[in-house]
Amino acid sequence: MISQIFSNNGIIGKARIRFFIGLLVGIICISACREQSRKEAFTIGFSQCVGSDLWRRTMLEEIKMELSLRPETQLIYADANNNSTKQIEQVREMLDKGIDLLIISPNEARPLTGIVEELYSKGIPVIVIDRKTASAQYTAYVGAENYQIGKMAGAYINTLLGGKGNIIEIMGLPGSSPAIERAKGFSDELKKHTGIKIISQLYGNWLASSTASQLEDQKDNLYAADAIFAHNDVMAASAKAFLKKHNIVKNIKIVGVDALPGPGGGLQMISDKKITASVLYPTGGKEAINIALRILNKESFGKENLLQSLVIDSTSVQLMKLQWARISGQQKDIERQQTLLEDQIRVYDSQRLVLNIIVIMLVLTVIFGGLAFFSLLENRKINKSLEQKNDEILSQRNQLVEASARIEAATEEKLNFFTNISHEFRTPLTLILSPLEDLLKQEKTGTRTAKDLGLIKRNVYRLLKLVNELIDYRKIEHQKFKVYPTNNNVTNFLSEIIDSFQYGANKKNIALNLISAEKNFYAWFDINILDKIIFNLLSNALKFTGPNGRITVAVEHLEDTFFITVTDNGQGMTEEELDHVWDQFYQSDTMESKGSGLGLSLSRELIHLHGGSIGVESKKWQGSTFKLILPIGSPPVTAPSFNKLRVDFAEQINIYANAEDTIKQTINETAFDYIKDQSILIIEDNLELLNYLSDKFSANYEVFSASSGNDGLNQAYEKIPDLIISDVIIPGMSGRELAKKLKTDLRTSHIPIILLTAQGSPEQQIEGIQSMADLYMTKPFHFDYLIANVENLIRNRIILKEHYISDISSGATKKAVINALDKKFLNDFAGFVEHHIGNENLSVDDIAQAIGISRIQLYRKVKALLNSSITDYILYRRLKKAKYMLLNEDYSISEISFMVGISSATYFSTLFKNKYGMSPSEFKKKPI
Ligand code: FRU
Repeated sequence: MISQIFSNNGIIGKARIRFFIGLLVGIICISACREQSRKEAFTIGFSQCVGSDLWRRTMLEEIKMELSLRPETQLIYADANNNSTKQIEQVREMLDKGIDLLIISPNEARPLTGIVEELYSKGIPVIVIDRKTASAQYTAYVGAENYQIGKMAGAYINTLLGGKGNIIEIMGLPGSSPAIERAKGFSDELKKHTGIKIISQLYGNWLASSTASQLEDQKDNLYAADAIFAHNDVMAASAKAFLKKHNIVKNIKIVGVDALPGPGGGLQMISDKKITASVLYPTGGKEAINIALRILNKESFGKENLLQSLVIDSTSVQLMKLQWARISGQQKDIERQQTLLEDQIRVYDSQRLVLNIIVIMLVLTVIFGGLAFFSLLENRKINKSLEQKNDEILSQRNQLVEASARIEAATEEKLNFFTNISHEFRTPLTLILSPLEDLLKQEKTGTRTAKDLGLIKRNVYRLLKLVNELIDYRKIEHQKFKVYPTNNNVTNFLSEIIDSFQYGANKKNIALNLISAEKNFYAWFDINILDKIIFNLLSNALKFTGPNGRITVAVEHLEDTFFITVTDNGQGMTEEELDHVWDQFYQSDTMESKGSGLGLSLSRELIHLHGGSIGVESKKWQGSTFKLILPIGSPPVTAPSFNKLRVDFAEQINIYANAEDTIKQTINETAFDYIKDQSILIIEDNLELLNYLSDKFSANYEVFSASSGNDGLNQAYEKIPDLIISDVIIPGMSGRELAKKLKTDLRTSHIPIILLTAQGSPEQQIEGIQSMADLYMTKPFHFDYLIANVENLIRNRIILKEHYISDISSGATKKAVINALDKKFLNDFAGFVEHHIGNENLSVDDIAQAIGISRIQLYRKVKALLNSSITDYILYRRLKKAKYMLLNEDYSISEISFMVGISSATYFSTLFKNKYGMSPSEFKKKPI
């Protein structure tokens, strides 16, 4: 119960722990998922035609700056270094990496058109920035209007030159859209101003170096030029440097494009008077990111996003610079703030983590606190119930202690009563013995009365021995057995006892000898105690040694100890028997001669009392050796107040001479023995009882006897008696086993069995009946009652036989007790005969074969059950059937004769007349 509670707790505990782990994982998961959703990520690819110049770096900075406000968006950047093929490859790589949107500034319009269209058709949004492709298949465009820039530059130069003058135009990379559009706008504007002429056009490829090398061929034109228009500030500054280098001191106005702020930028060039003016060309990085995110977030956006432009010269450059300074100051503020913000976010993140952990810990604390509280309550409950149980157990224990004290007292009283009664037995037994001895002297030996008186005498001594043993045992238990050692000649002591056994030994032709090295060896011992032990050992040796055997008693001494050994070459003991040899009341099943089972156990106690010990060595069918080890001893400190001499010796001699007198099985030999109808097999190991019963039954029955289970079984198979009487405890096999064997064997199953036993408890009686015995009688039984039961069982068998003989087909089992095996046998037997009644040659062999037993067994069985021979039985059945047919069927006599298996009608008539006193034809006319 308690373990159940604990194990339940264990299960609940495990389930709870699982639940809390789940909860914890859940909480962590939820916060992680939130984190995840907060950072919904996009990947934007940015492909630059070239990244090295200031304008491009500014553009990239703007993009990065804008994206820094959106940390969830990732940027993949690639610089094609003015190489269109390389730029295409880089776009493909980005595609493989899995970009959500592409921002591209194509190096040249045509080569990049294909890849932009490809992405666009795949559904990946493409924002074209600054330079264009050759088609309109893109998602959005961000950049200033280059045609307008060209026009603004044309208008400004016209004003600068007062409507008259020569111009050299330095263009960007051929094929790039700004170069094409700026040139177009510029020329369109100048068409309005006829005094202004473009005297030369060259490609500077957006670079200072290319510009310088191209100008080398234009030196002459430079002398004629009044103004230079370069498509960007880099090329404009290069032209200025070229003029200075070649000492062309003429005041040539130089106008560029871009007007970038910061060191090296166009604004600085204007204020440093390196160039005259510059047309503002914004990078559009910030705008491109804004539009990209609108596209990605599926918000509305414009396809063409054109940026504003204006011309900056010395008049406006300071203002612009100031503005740029402010903007860049603000930019720096933003950056600083961003850094701060990032720091804050980091702090916030770590604080949030700590907070989360605290919340989880708090939740867990509450839960575990609850659990602990719950467990506390549970524990209290369990403790309470345990306390209750403990109390119950304690009170039960107390009750048991009281009860056992009461039982102990009661037992003690019973034993005392028993001991007293045992004492009381001694007087009547003695009183029976002396008149008995007188009677025996008067009776002539051999007469029936003398025989009975002998039986009485033996059994009185047996009772006396038993009573003495019991009294001794009680004395030992109560430490009332006192040892009175006297100084004795051990050899003389032993030879006296041996002498008293010599008669019994001679009867069985057993050599009984004493071997002693010293004739006058003295020791201190209680002569009465040692008497009992040696008497017991010698009587056992005699009992278990067969005719012509040998028993040797030897004595020897070593220092303070002396040894007495009793060796026989008799039955010996098995290992199991040896294990139990000192047990009280132990009797081996296989030992054919029995005592009380107390002798050896008592001997051992007595030896211990004497300060010695006893041991045994034995081998089955080889013999046993009992060895006593005793101290030589010394005179007692206080001598006994009375002379305690060998008082029990005479009684011991009488007891052992009479009680253990070997009984021979008597065989009834009567001169005029007549044949008796019924036979009985008696199986009993107590030869006196066996003889007694055999004597009594032999008057009316043929008696077979056996003293062991195996012998009984063999005789039962051999003799097939009419009844068996068997003891339950018999050597070899129990009476119950024997009954079971016989009742389940077809040969003997019909024999009634009576079990006789001293085991009279209801359970033992039930066990006896269950062993298939017909009757179970407990000892002591009244002989007349046994006879009445024997007669009754035999009579039942006769009724059964008569019944089967008279009419086999009606329910025999209702009329007499019959065992199922016999019923089946009779039914099989009668059924087979009935079925083959028309067969004239029906033989005993046919029937035996059909039933599955031997011919001889069949004879015996039919004889025992039906008291008839098989051929008589078959003939009887033929005639009985014929009688029935004569009465009830319309066949002729010869037909009927044939149908019942008698081929000759005349023979049939003779047989019929012999049986029923009239011929078949007479019977047909006038049935009995
Ligand atoms: C930079 C640049 C700028 C110019 C733009 C045209 O690479 O040459 O100076 O305005 O490209 O695409």
